[in-house]
Amino acid sequence: MCGIVGGVAERNISNILIEGLKRLEYRGYDSAGLALINQGQVLRERRVGKVANLADAVSESQISGSLGIAHTRWATHGKPTEENAHPHISGNVAVVHNGIIENYQELKDDLEALGYVFTSQTDTEVVAHLVNDALKTAPSLLEAVRKVVPQLKGAYALGIVHTDHPDELITVREGSPLVIGVGIGENFISSDQLALLPITNRFIYLEEGDIARLTRHTIEVFVDGQLVERPVKELDATVSNASKGEYKHYMLKEIYEQPEAIKQTISQALNGNALREDFLASAIEDFSNIQQVQIIACGTSYHAGMIAKYWFEQLIDMPCQVEIASEFRYRSPVIVNNTLYVCISQSGETADTLAALRDTQKRAVAKNLNITTMTICNVATSSMVRETNHSLLTLAGPEIGVASTKAFTTQLAALMLLVLKIGQIKQTISEDQIAKIVTELWHTPKVILDTLQNDKEILRLSELFVEKQHCLFLGRGTHFPIALEGALKLKEISYIHAEGYAAGELKHGPLALVDNDMPVVILAPKDDMLDKLKSNMEEVQARGGELFVFADEHSGIKGKDRQHVVNVPTVDPILAPIVYSIPVQLLSYHVAVLRGTDVDQPRNLAKSVTVE
Ligand code: G6P
Repeated sequence: MCGIVGGVAERNISNILIEGLKRLEYRGYDSAGLALINQGQVLRERRVGKVANLADAVSESQISGSLGIAHTRWATHGKPTEENAHPHISGNVAVVHNGIIENYQELKDDLEALGYVFTSQTDTEVVAHLVNDALKTAPSLLEAVRKVVPQLKGAYALGIVHTDHPDELITVREGSPLVIGVGIGENFISSDQLALLPITNRFIYLEEGDIARLTRHTIEVFVDGQLVERPVKELDATVSNASKGEYKHYMLKEIYEQPEAIKQTISQALNGNALREDFLASAIEDFSNIQQVQIIACGTSYHAGMIAKYWFEQLIDMPCQVEIASEFRYRSPVIVNNTLYVCISQSGETADTLAALRDTQKRAVAKNLNITTMTICNVATSSMVRETNHSLLTLAGPEIGVASTKAFTTQLAALMLLVLKIGQIKQTISEDQIAKIVTELWHTPKVILDTLQNDKEILRLSELFVEKQHCLFLGRGTHFPIALEGALKLKEISYIHAEGYAAGELKHGPLALVDNDMPVVILAPKDDMLDKLKSNMEEVQARGGELFVFADEHSGIKGKDRQHVVNVPTVDPILAPIVYSIPVQLLSYHVAVLRGTDVDQPRNLAKSVTVE
């Protein structure tokens, strides 16, 4: 969602803030703004659209300052206009905000009754006025913020500055991510450490409810007014891995990074053709008690969970449910004793997944149930990783493109490792079977590399999609979720309406949509379901549908009139969904590029959805 950067330094930080916003743009990109405190004044620039527009405005106006806050917005309350862009100002106070103030209307009514005039439709502006108002009686900016925070309902992260306090930045974390970047003689805040990597690799991860005061030389963190210690962690992430390099888009770069990302992810768990003894060693006791698995996730991560369900049940006889977090959290699900709750999340910050996890934990404690929680995540320092009993990291490196690619396939690799580990502990899978699957896992990066060789052919086929309005993706078994994922990818970046279906459901509805103008993408690995899938293809062809088949090179499916076939190298059917993700990613990518959409930052979407 929205992204915050702020800092207090001796030097002018306008460029640091702009640079930080650019690196946060994946979080929201409908408008951006910045406020600098300079000689008792707030200097503010705001612009609709991308950070580049703001950067131009700042370089034109030449505003500067050594204390400031900046923001890139993903609109929730109020349209993406300049008036609604942050920072918001009241008197001498400027505020940036990520999250939602749920009771803002009530607060706004009270403030208006006190004579405060609102210049935006945002929920954020109430915070600026409230702090301004609290300063009438509070002895310091920190105390004023402390007075305001209990009045705010919702999830939020804040950055607050005041013209009379040129060496003070106040920040609050309550339900939305926020880190402090520790510099030498300067300190910074951000929604994501990624924004600050060019200036520091030392971070303090604030906890929920923390209020912090940063000056150039000090960082104080308070909980209920008491000073607390928060450790400074050093990160070895490098700046370069968050850049586009020679690629036209982050998404393309990330698609091509998959062989290496998968290799990294599995290397942490494997020793030759066996699971390493120390892999998830601290979870062994917990895993030995579980009777079932409940996966909770959103978006692409949910599709990864759907595939894992097949694996848990087929390979290790472990019952597994998967649910979208936004449904799970609100339907009062029965929390079951001896269940492993697995959150899958690239970011580890998705609001619904995090809330579902927290509710589950609360309810388990209330009922005195013995559950285990774990996260499969790409961000080691994320809230989910910190709040679950165990975690397994996808070592994909930063994923910037809004459409998830390498995070998805590494999630699948990680989930397979988890399945094998639990099966080993429960003795529901033999060591021979483990060795066989592990051998295939090691082989996967090479198969993906070979599959990427089809890029040009897929580009050629994607030209046939450019004018289409609708598209259907079909698969069976573990390729049903890949069909869903293919449809999600296509719709999110090319804006073509797409549906993913289990091929067996074709005649229960979607077949009615099939006509001359309906491209149907088929995922056809060489598995037990291949013959049934071929029958589904016949059904589509008989109704004039045009088939685009990603088929195992030995499937026997040949190209013919209105049937385009891309051969995918043979892969063990168990791991095939990892490999078949690649052609659907490339297809959506090329269609989007040809349609001229903003591939890395598609309209209306954001990478990290930290509001519900
Ligand atoms: C957003 C992103 C998706 C992602 C989903 C869940 O919608 O655009 O790519 O799959 O959130 O995010 P998470 O970080 O929890 O995997």
